[in-house]
Amino acid sequence: MPGQTQSRPGPRAICTIGSGRARGLCCLSAVKALEKDNLMLRPLIAAAIAATAILPTAVTAGPIEDRKAIMKANGRDTKMAADMLKGAVPFDAAAANKILANYAAAAKAFPAHFPANSKTGGETEAAPAIWDKPADWKAATAKFQADTAAAAALKPGDAAGFGKAFGMVTANCKSCHEGFRIKKG
Ligand code: HEC
Repeated sequence: MPGQTQSRPGPRAICTIGSGRARGLCCLSAVKALEKDNLMLRPLIAAAIAATAILPTAVTAGPIEDRKAIMKANGRDTKMAADMLKGAVPFDAAAANKILANYAAAAKAFPAHFPANSKTGGETEAAPAIWDKPADWKAATAKFQADTAAAAALKPGDAAGFGKAFGMVTANCKSCHEGFRIKKG
């Protein structure tokens, strides 16, 4: 993000955001969080947090982390769904429909996290084709949205119905990864 620097903020960084009341609140929330942990160590932790806590946020938060988090959730949901369909865990209609709703929400949110300045960095596995072939990328994300919405709308009540909906969704995982993800490691 513009304005975010990778440089290490000084120890006072946490309290230099905003001014006046906003600045006060910033300090207050940091201290409140510490109070929960350990009152005696408070000054020590406060200094450590002021020096470092803001750093990981500034460096790691951003579109790459956000889209990876969305995909990680897709991965978790897919594992849960597969376990249900295999019979490793009993079929649960509410859980199944929640998974389908999650997919639809993920498909909607996902495309917003590919600004031009996020082609590299953060151990991204995003392929250059996302930016080099925008029409293909748009088609892939639109298909994911349409298929996940259709799958969620089926509102399956049994494993067979869920299997069908799940298949509609997961065909997208493979085809999009083939074209737009370069798997590392
Ligand atoms: C429209 C394209 C698209 C679809 C559809 C898609 N993915 Fe992805 N997926 C990606 C891209 C691009 C990445 C790499 C993101 C990055 O590293 O910046 C990725 C990364 C991942 C990752 C690795 C996340 C990490 O830890 O970094 C997992 C797991 C994953 N996808 C699972 C799934 C599953 C499961 C589905 C289907 C339910 C799915 N994806 C559907 C494009 C897609």
